Amino acid sequence: MPNITIINGPNLNLLGMREPGVYGNETFDDFFAQLKKDFPQVNFTYFQSNIEGELVNAIQQYGFNQDGIILNPAAYTHTSVAIGDAVAAIKTPVIEVHISNVHAREDFRKISHVTAKSVGSIVGLGLKGYALATEWFIANANQ
Ligand code: DQA
Repeated sequence: MPNITIINGPNLNLLGMREPGVYGNETFDDFFAQLKKDFPQVNFTYFQSNIEGELVNAIQQYGFNQDGIILNPAAYTHTSVAIGDAVAAIKTPVIEVHISNVHAREDFRKISHVTAKSVGSIVGLGLKGYALATEWFIANANQ
């Protein structure tokens, strides 16, 4: 059974009520409940924090014992050298996910400290990006 951890950064706990025109109307809890039903063969862990160092701690904690990490560092994507360094330091492959198309928004969102250290990135496909990343880890587990 593949072990996949989803790590979400700041303000993603407000999905569903936060800027619905950008991030949609669905809460992450509702999405995650459906994701677990859609992928019963996956053992999911979920962690969210608004605090940069807690995200670094989670990347370290799950970075040596999972088959994949799906990471949306939210605004810290664009600012956090520490989160980029944590992704580079671990063994577990990371897929970077952004709900919105960060390349079609403000220029500061075009910079990511994690893209170059990730196996790949999925941006702009909404919450579906987490499901697509899950599919990739299932298909590529143990490679
Ligand atoms: C985000 C994009 C970031 O630029 C933003 O700060 C977020 C969410 C996304 O999923 O689209 O909080 O990571």
